[in-house]
Amino acid sequence: MFYTRRTVFVFICSIVFLQALYYIITLQLKKNQTISPYDLTSDKEKLSVSNDTTLIQKIEPSFISTTSIQTLVPSFIKATYVLAINLTRPDPVVFKSYPVCNFSISNNDTSIYRVTVSKTIHPFDVIEKHHDDIDWGGHWFPKTCRTEQRLALIICYRNREFHLKLFLDNIHSFLKQQQLDYTIFVVNQHGTDQFNRAALFNVGFLEAMKLYSFDCFIFHDVDLIPEDLRNVYKCGDRPRHMSVAVDKFNYKLLYSTLFGGVTAFSLSDFVGANGYPTVYWGWGGEDDDMYLRVSRKLKKSITRYPIEIARYKMIRTYNHTSGKANPHRHDILYSKYDYNRDGINTTRYNLHELVFYKTFTMINVTLTEERFEQISARLNITKRKPAKKIKTIRRKA
Ligand code: BGC
Repeated sequence: MFYTRRTVFVFICSIVFLQALYYIITLQLKKNQTISPYDLTSDKEKLSVSNDTTLIQKIEPSFISTTSIQTLVPSFIKATYVLAINLTRPDPVVFKSYPVCNFSISNNDTSIYRVTVSKTIHPFDVIEKHHDDIDWGGHWFPKTCRTEQRLALIICYRNREFHLKLFLDNIHSFLKQQQLDYTIFVVNQHGTDQFNRAALFNVGFLEAMKLYSFDCFIFHDVDLIPEDLRNVYKCGDRPRHMSVAVDKFNYKLLYSTLFGGVTAFSLSDFVGANGYPTVYWGWGGEDDDMYLRVSRKLKKSITRYPIEIARYKMIRTYNHTSGKANPHRHDILYSKYDYNRDGINTTRYNLHELVFYKTFTMINVTLTEERFEQISARLNITKRKPAKKIKTIRRKA
Protein backbone atom coordinates (compact mmCIF):
# COMPACT_ATOMS: atom_id res chain seq x y z
CA MET A 1 0.00 0.00 0.00
CA PHE A 2 2.72 2.40 1.14
CA TYR A 3 4.76 1.40 -1.92
CA THR A 4 1.84 2.22 -4.26
CA ARG A 5 1.27 5.64 -2.61
CA ARG A 6 4.93 6.53 -3.04
CA THR A 7 4.80 5.53 -6.71
CA VAL A 8 1.75 7.75 -7.30
CA PHE A 9 3.45 10.67 -5.52
CA VAL A 10 6.64 10.29 -7.56
CA PHE A 11 4.54 9.99 -10.72
CA ILE A 12 2.64 13.24 -9.99
CA CYS A 13 5.87 15.07 -9.12
CA SER A 14 7.46 13.97 -12.42
CA ILE A 15 4.44 15.23 -14.37
CA VAL A 16 4.57 18.63 -12.62
CA PHE A 17 8.31 18.79 -13.20
CA LEU A 18 7.97 17.90 -16.90
CA GLN A 19 5.21 20.48 -17.39
CA ALA A 20 7.33 23.18 -15.75
CA LEU A 21 10.26 22.21 -17.97
CA TYR A 22 8.06 22.37 -21.08
CA TYR A 23 6.78 25.80 -20.06
CA ILE A 24 10.30 27.16 -19.48
CA ILE A 25 11.58 25.79 -22.83
CA THR A 26 8.68 27.18 -24.88
CA LEU A 27 9.05 30.57 -23.18
CA GLN A 28 12.73 30.63 -24.09
CA LEU A 29 12.00 29.62 -27.70
CA LYS A 30 9.41 32.38 -28.10
CA LYS A 31 11.92 34.90 -26.77
CA ASN A 32 14.48 33.86 -29.38
CA GLN A 33 11.93 34.13 -32.18
CA THR A 34 11.29 37.84 -31.53
CA ILE A 35 12.82 39.60 -34.48
CA SER A 36 15.26 42.34 -33.85
CA PRO A 37 14.20 45.55 -35.55
CA TYR A 38 17.51 45.64 -37.36
CA ASP A 39 17.49 42.06 -38.58
CA LEU A 40 15.84 42.09 -41.96
CA THR A 41 17.18 38.69 -42.92
CA SER A 42 14.71 37.09 -40.48
CA ASP A 43 11.94 38.23 -42.77
CA LYS A 44 12.70 35.52 -45.29
CA GLU A 45 9.13 34.45 -45.77
CA LYS A 46 8.06 37.88 -46.89
CA LEU A 47 11.09 38.92 -48.88
CA SER A 48 13.67 36.74 -50.55
CA VAL A 49 17.09 38.01 -49.64
CA SER A 50 19.93 38.11 -52.10
CA ASN A 51 22.68 35.53 -51.63
CA ASP A 52 25.34 37.99 -52.62
CA THR A 53 26.78 38.52 -49.16
CA THR A 54 29.43 40.95 -50.39
CA LEU A 55 26.70 43.48 -51.03
CA ILE A 56 24.73 42.96 -47.87
CA GLN A 57 25.52 45.31 -45.07
CA LYS A 58 23.60 45.81 -41.88
CA ILE A 59 21.68 49.05 -41.74
CA GLU A 60 22.87 51.44 -39.04
CA PRO A 61 20.63 50.93 -35.99
CA SER A 62 20.14 54.67 -35.58
CA PHE A 63 18.89 54.94 -39.13
CA ILE A 64 15.57 53.23 -38.76
CA SER A 65 12.74 53.48 -36.31
CA THR A 66 12.46 51.00 -33.49
CA THR A 67 9.36 49.33 -34.90
CA SER A 68 10.00 45.93 -36.44
CA ILE A 69 10.45 45.99 -40.21
CA GLN A 70 8.33 42.87 -40.46
CA THR A 71 5.19 44.85 -39.81
CA LEU A 72 6.08 47.90 -41.88
CA VAL A 73 7.62 46.89 -45.21
CA PRO A 74 5.02 46.15 -47.88
CA SER A 75 5.56 42.46 -48.61
CA PHE A 76 6.97 42.44 -52.12
CA ILE A 77 7.16 38.69 -52.61
CA LYS A 78 10.09 37.45 -54.74
CA ALA A 79 11.73 40.86 -54.80
CA THR A 80 15.39 40.74 -53.83
CA TYR A 81 16.94 43.48 -51.77
CA VAL A 82 20.05 44.62 -49.99
CA LEU A 83 20.47 47.12 -47.21
CA ALA A 84 22.53 50.26 -46.85
CA ILE A 85 24.57 50.15 -50.02
CA ASN A 86 26.19 53.05 -51.81
CA LEU A 87 24.71 53.65 -55.25
CA THR A 88 27.39 52.73 -57.78
CA ARG A 89 28.99 55.62 -59.62
CA PRO A 90 30.80 55.74 -62.94
CA ASP A 91 34.60 55.80 -62.56
CA PRO A 92 35.33 59.59 -62.71
CA VAL A 93 38.53 59.21 -64.77
CA VAL A 94 37.12 56.85 -67.38
CA PHE A 95 33.85 58.79 -67.34
CA LYS A 96 35.58 62.02 -68.42
CA SER A 97 37.06 60.35 -71.48
CA TYR A 98 33.65 59.25 -72.77
CA PRO A 99 31.65 61.20 -75.35
CA VAL A 100 28.46 62.85 -74.08
CA CYS A 101 25.43 60.55 -74.32
CA ASN A 102 23.23 61.77 -77.05
CA PHE A 103 19.83 60.24 -77.47
CA SER A 104 19.03 61.90 -80.75
CA ILE A 105 15.62 62.41 -82.19
CA SER A 106 16.33 62.70 -85.85
CA ASN A 107 14.36 60.12 -87.69
CA ASN A 108 11.44 61.43 -89.69
CA ASP A 109 9.63 58.17 -89.24
CA THR A 110 8.17 58.99 -85.82
CA SER A 111 6.65 55.52 -85.46
CA ILE A 112 10.06 54.22 -84.40
CA TYR A 113 9.77 56.25 -81.18
CA ARG A 114 6.44 54.73 -80.18
CA VAL A 115 6.76 52.42 -77.18
CA THR A 116 4.93 49.13 -76.94
CA VAL A 117 3.62 49.17 -73.40
CA SER A 118 3.82 45.74 -71.81
CA LYS A 119 0.59 44.95 -69.97
CA THR A 120 1.60 41.65 -68.40
CA ILE A 121 2.12 41.72 -64.68
CA HIS A 122 5.14 39.59 -63.92
CA PRO A 123 6.37 38.58 -60.47
CA PHE A 124 9.31 40.62 -59.19
CA ASP A 125 11.89 37.90 -59.90
CA VAL A 126 10.85 37.90 -63.58
CA ILE A 127 10.98 41.71 -63.76
CA GLU A 128 14.45 41.51 -62.24
CA LYS A 129 15.50 39.05 -64.95
CA HIS A 130 14.16 41.37 -67.66
CA HIS A 131 16.45 44.09 -66.26
CA ASP A 132 19.43 42.16 -64.95
CA ASP A 133 21.86 44.94 -65.90
CA ILE A 134 20.42 47.30 -63.27
CA ASP A 135 22.33 48.05 -60.09
CA TRP A 136 20.80 47.71 -56.63
CA GLY A 137 18.22 50.35 -55.82
CA GLY A 138 16.92 50.56 -59.40
CA HIS A 139 19.97 52.51 -60.48
CA TRP A 140 21.40 52.45 -64.01
CA PHE A 141 23.76 54.54 -66.09
CA PRO A 142 25.17 54.08 -69.61
CA LYS A 143 28.51 52.31 -69.72
CA THR A 144 29.96 53.80 -72.89
CA CYS A 145 28.99 57.47 -72.79
CA ARG A 146 28.88 60.36 -70.31
CA THR A 147 25.54 61.60 -68.99
CA GLU A 148 25.06 65.27 -68.24
CA GLN A 149 22.36 64.81 -65.60
CA ARG A 150 21.65 62.45 -62.73
CA LEU A 151 17.95 61.74 -62.51
CA ALA A 152 15.96 60.73 -59.43
CA LEU A 153 12.58 59.43 -60.54
CA ILE A 154 10.31 59.65 -57.50
CA ILE A 155 7.03 57.78 -57.18
CA CYS A 156 4.46 58.32 -54.43
CA TYR A 157 3.01 55.00 -53.40
CA ARG A 158 0.56 53.10 -51.26
CA ASN A 159 -0.70 49.58 -51.84
CA ARG A 160 -0.64 49.45 -55.65
CA GLU A 161 1.63 46.51 -56.31
CA PHE A 162 0.18 45.58 -59.71
CA HIS A 163 0.66 49.12 -60.93
CA LEU A 164 4.18 49.21 -59.54
CA LYS A 165 5.15 45.98 -61.30
CA LEU A 166 3.83 47.19 -64.64
CA PHE A 167 5.45 50.56 -64.16
CA LEU A 168 8.87 49.18 -63.31
CA ASP A 169 8.91 46.63 -66.10
CA ASN A 170 8.11 49.34 -68.65
CA ILE A 171 10.02 52.34 -67.31
CA HIS A 172 13.41 50.67 -67.04
CA SER A 173 13.45 49.78 -70.74
CA PHE A 174 12.29 53.29 -71.57
CA LEU A 175 14.92 55.13 -69.51
CA LYS A 176 17.77 52.86 -70.62
CA GLN A 177 16.94 53.60 -74.25
CA GLN A 178 17.21 57.32 -73.47
CA GLN A 179 20.70 56.68 -72.07
CA LEU A 180 20.11 58.31 -68.71
CA ASP A 181 21.83 58.00 -65.35
CA TYR A 182 18.75 57.34 -63.24
CA THR A 183 17.49 55.83 -59.99
CA ILE A 184 13.91 54.92 -59.17
CA PHE A 185 12.58 55.79 -55.72
CA VAL A 186 9.27 54.50 -54.42
CA VAL A 187 8.08 56.48 -51.41
CA ASN A 188 5.56 54.40 -49.51
CA GLN A 189 3.14 56.08 -47.12
CA HIS A 190 2.69 53.61 -44.29
CA GLY A 191 -0.48 53.70 -42.18
CA THR A 192 -4.03 54.77 -42.79
CA ASP A 193 -3.83 58.57 -42.60
CA GLN A 194 -5.03 60.47 -45.66
CA PHE A 195 -2.60 60.07 -48.55
CA ASN A 196 -0.33 63.05 -49.06
CA ARG A 197 1.09 62.79 -52.58
CA ALA A 198 3.03 66.05 -52.45
CA ALA A 199 4.66 65.46 -49.05
CA LEU A 200 5.81 62.03 -50.28
CA PHE A 201 7.52 63.72 -53.22
CA ASN A 202 9.38 66.00 -50.81
CA VAL A 203 10.44 62.98 -48.74
CA GLY A 204 11.73 61.29 -51.90
CA PHE A 205 13.70 64.40 -52.77
CA LEU A 206 15.23 64.76 -49.29
CA GLU A 207 16.19 61.09 -48.98
CA ALA A 208 17.49 60.83 -52.56
CA MET A 209 19.79 63.80 -51.99
CA LYS A 210 21.49 61.89 -49.15
CA LEU A 211 22.43 59.08 -51.54
CA TYR A 212 23.71 60.55 -54.81
CA SER A 213 24.38 63.88 -56.46
CA PHE A 214 21.07 64.09 -58.30
CA ASP A 215 20.38 67.25 -60.25
CA CYS A 216 17.14 66.37 -62.00
CA PHE A 217 13.92 65.18 -60.34
CA ILE A 218 10.91 63.66 -62.00
CA PHE A 219 7.85 63.26 -59.80
CA HIS A 220 5.69 60.47 -61.14
CA ASP A 221 2.33 58.82 -60.54
CA VAL A 222 2.71 55.05 -60.54
CA ASP A 223 -0.14 54.48 -62.98
CA LEU A 224 1.27 56.50 -65.89
CA ILE A 225 3.46 54.88 -68.53
CA PRO A 226 5.10 57.00 -71.24
CA GLU A 227 4.36 55.95 -74.79
CA ASP A 228 6.91 57.87 -76.85
CA LEU A 229 10.69 57.81 -76.55
CA ARG A 230 10.93 61.46 -77.62
CA ASN A 231 9.45 62.31 -74.22
CA VAL A 232 12.97 62.58 -72.80
CA TYR A 233 13.21 62.33 -69.01
CA LYS A 234 15.65 65.23 -68.62
CA CYS A 235 15.34 68.54 -66.83
CA GLY A 236 15.60 71.92 -68.53
CA ASP A 237 15.84 75.47 -67.30
CA ARG A 238 12.12 75.56 -66.55
CA PRO A 239 9.90 73.02 -64.75
CA ARG A 240 8.23 70.71 -67.25
CA HIS A 241 4.78 69.18 -67.20
CA MET A 242 5.41 65.77 -68.78
CA SER A 243 2.02 64.01 -68.81
CA VAL A 244 0.27 66.30 -71.25
CA ALA A 245 -1.76 63.74 -73.21
CA VAL A 246 -3.18 60.80 -71.27
CA ASP A 247 -5.23 58.09 -72.99
CA LYS A 248 -7.92 58.27 -70.29
CA PHE A 249 -8.58 61.88 -71.31
CA ASN A 250 -8.45 61.12 -75.04
CA TYR A 251 -4.90 62.47 -75.25
CA LYS A 252 -6.09 66.00 -74.54
CA LEU A 253 -4.83 68.44 -71.93
CA LEU A 254 -7.65 68.87 -69.38
CA TYR A 255 -6.90 72.55 -68.65
CA SER A 256 -4.07 74.91 -69.44
CA THR A 257 -2.62 75.10 -65.92
CA LEU A 258 -2.78 71.35 -65.28
CA PHE A 259 0.43 70.26 -63.58
CA GLY A 260 -0.46 66.78 -62.27
CA GLY A 261 0.69 63.28 -63.18
CA VAL A 262 4.36 63.66 -64.08
CA THR A 263 6.54 66.76 -63.59
CA ALA A 264 10.26 67.44 -64.03
CA PHE A 265 12.34 69.91 -61.98
CA SER A 266 16.00 70.81 -61.95
CA LEU A 267 17.54 70.82 -58.47
CA SER A 268 17.65 74.62 -58.33
CA ASP A 269 14.03 75.04 -59.47
CA PHE A 270 12.75 72.51 -56.96
CA VAL A 271 14.63 74.13 -54.09
CA GLY A 272 13.63 77.58 -55.37
CA ALA A 273 9.96 76.62 -55.19
CA ASN A 274 10.49 75.21 -51.67
CA GLY A 275 9.40 71.86 -53.11
CA TYR A 276 5.83 70.62 -53.04
CA PRO A 277 3.32 71.80 -50.40
CA THR A 278 2.74 69.46 -47.44
CA VAL A 279 -0.74 70.66 -46.54
CA TYR A 280 -2.92 68.76 -49.01
CA TRP A 281 -4.26 65.58 -47.37
CA GLY A 282 -6.40 63.40 -49.61
CA TRP A 283 -7.15 63.94 -53.28
CA GLY A 284 -6.54 67.16 -55.21
CA GLY A 285 -5.04 70.62 -55.10
CA GLU A 286 -1.35 69.88 -54.51
CA ASP A 287 -0.47 69.91 -58.22
CA ASP A 288 -2.33 73.20 -58.76
CA ASP A 289 -0.45 74.61 -55.78
CA MET A 290 2.83 73.54 -57.35
CA TYR A 291 1.83 75.31 -60.55
CA LEU A 292 1.27 78.51 -58.53
CA ARG A 293 4.62 78.08 -56.77
CA VAL A 294 6.35 77.95 -60.14
CA SER A 295 4.74 81.15 -61.36
CA ARG A 296 4.58 83.11 -58.09
CA LYS A 297 7.69 81.99 -56.22
CA LEU A 298 10.05 80.90 -59.01
CA LYS A 299 8.66 83.55 -61.35
CA LYS A 300 8.85 81.12 -64.24
CA SER A 301 6.38 79.56 -66.61
CA ILE A 302 6.16 75.82 -67.08
CA THR A 303 7.10 74.11 -70.29
CA ARG A 304 5.66 71.07 -72.10
CA TYR A 305 6.72 68.76 -74.90
CA PRO A 306 4.30 68.71 -77.85
CA ILE A 307 1.07 66.82 -77.31
CA GLU A 308 1.98 64.10 -79.82
CA ILE A 309 5.13 63.33 -77.80
CA ALA A 310 4.08 63.72 -74.16
CA ARG A 311 1.69 60.77 -74.38
CA TYR A 312 0.89 58.37 -71.55
CA LYS A 313 -1.10 55.25 -70.94
CA MET A 314 -2.92 55.22 -67.62
CA ILE A 315 -3.21 51.84 -65.92
CA ARG A 316 -6.78 51.97 -64.76
CA THR A 317 -7.70 48.49 -63.63
CA TYR A 318 -6.90 46.53 -60.46
CA ASN A 319 -9.53 47.99 -58.17
CA HIS A 320 -7.82 51.22 -57.38
CA THR A 321 -10.00 54.06 -56.19
CA SER A 322 -8.66 57.56 -55.58
CA GLY A 323 -8.60 58.89 -52.03
CA LYS A 324 -11.30 61.16 -50.63
CA ALA A 325 -11.31 64.63 -52.23
CA ASN A 326 -9.88 67.18 -49.84
CA PRO A 327 -12.72 69.59 -48.92
CA HIS A 328 -10.20 72.30 -47.93
CA ARG A 329 -8.09 72.24 -51.06
CA HIS A 330 -9.56 75.39 -52.58
CA ASP A 331 -9.30 77.32 -49.29
CA ILE A 332 -5.58 76.58 -49.15
CA LEU A 333 -4.95 76.97 -52.85
CA TYR A 334 -6.51 80.41 -53.21
CA SER A 335 -5.36 81.76 -49.83
CA LYS A 336 -2.09 83.13 -51.22
CA TYR A 337 -0.22 81.76 -48.20
CA ASP A 338 3.52 82.30 -48.02
CA TYR A 339 5.26 79.42 -49.81
CA ASN A 340 8.34 79.91 -47.61
CA ARG A 341 6.27 78.72 -44.68
CA ASP A 342 5.43 75.34 -46.14
CA GLY A 343 7.30 72.93 -48.39
CA ILE A 344 10.62 71.08 -48.21
CA ASN A 345 11.54 73.06 -45.11
CA THR A 346 8.48 71.82 -43.19
CA THR A 347 8.34 68.21 -44.42
CA ARG A 348 8.13 66.01 -41.31
CA TYR A 349 8.19 62.24 -41.54
CA ASN A 350 9.07 59.17 -39.60
CA LEU A 351 11.47 57.11 -41.70
CA HIS A 352 10.99 53.41 -41.06
CA GLU A 353 13.17 51.76 -43.65
CA LEU A 354 15.22 52.42 -46.72
CA VAL A 355 15.40 49.21 -48.74
CA PHE A 356 17.43 48.77 -51.90
CA TYR A 357 15.44 46.39 -54.05
CA LYS A 358 16.86 45.26 -57.36
CA THR A 359 14.59 47.45 -59.47
CA PHE A 360 13.88 50.36 -57.09
CA THR A 361 14.77 51.96 -53.78
CA MET A 362 11.94 51.96 -51.30
CA ILE A 363 11.58 54.72 -48.75
CA ASN A 364 9.00 53.69 -46.19
CA VAL A 365 7.57 56.47 -44.04
CA THR A 366 4.71 57.54 -41.84
CA LEU A 367 3.37 61.06 -42.21
CA THR A 368 1.35 62.64 -39.44
CA GLU A 369 -1.78 64.31 -40.69
CA GLU A 370 -2.18 67.95 -39.81
CA ARG A 371 -5.74 69.10 -39.26
CA PHE A 372 -7.08 71.98 -41.35
CA GLU A 373 -7.42 74.17 -38.22
CA GLN A 374 -3.72 73.66 -37.51
CA ILE A 375 -2.79 74.31 -41.14
CA SER A 376 -4.81 77.50 -41.30
CA ALA A 377 -3.35 78.74 -38.02
CA ARG A 378 0.19 77.95 -39.15
CA LEU A 379 -0.21 79.51 -42.59
CA ASN A 380 -2.60 82.27 -41.64
CA ILE A 381 -5.35 81.00 -43.90
CA THR A 382 -8.84 82.35 -43.51
CA LYS A 383 -11.70 80.28 -44.79
CA ARG A 384 -13.18 81.60 -48.00
CA LYS A 385 -16.71 82.87 -47.93
CA PRO A 386 -19.08 80.35 -49.48
CA ALA A 387 -20.26 81.33 -52.95
CA LYS A 388 -23.57 83.21 -52.88
CA LYS A 389 -26.54 81.00 -53.53
CA ILE A 390 -28.38 81.93 -56.68
CA LYS A 391 -32.05 82.37 -55.95
CA THR A 392 -34.13 80.22 -58.21
CA ILE A 393 -37.72 81.22 -58.76
CA ARG A 394 -39.94 78.24 -59.08
CA ARG A 395 -42.37 78.68 -61.86
CA LYS A 396 -45.98 77.95 -61.10
CA ALA A 397 -47.26 74.93 -62.84
C1 BGC B 1 -7.43 69.04 -58.77
C2 BGC B 1 -6.12 68.55 -59.25
C3 BGC B 1 -6.32 67.49 -60.33
C4 BGC B 1 -7.18 68.06 -61.44
C5 BGC B 1 -7.42 67.08 -62.55
C6 BGC B 1 -8.24 69.57 -59.95
O1 BGC B 1 -9.50 69.99 -59.53
O2 BGC B 1 -7.26 70.07 -57.83
O3 BGC B 1 -5.40 68.02 -58.17
O4 BGC B 1 -5.09 67.09 -60.86
O5 BGC B 1 -8.40 68.52 -60.91
O6 BGC B 1 -8.13 65.96 -62.14
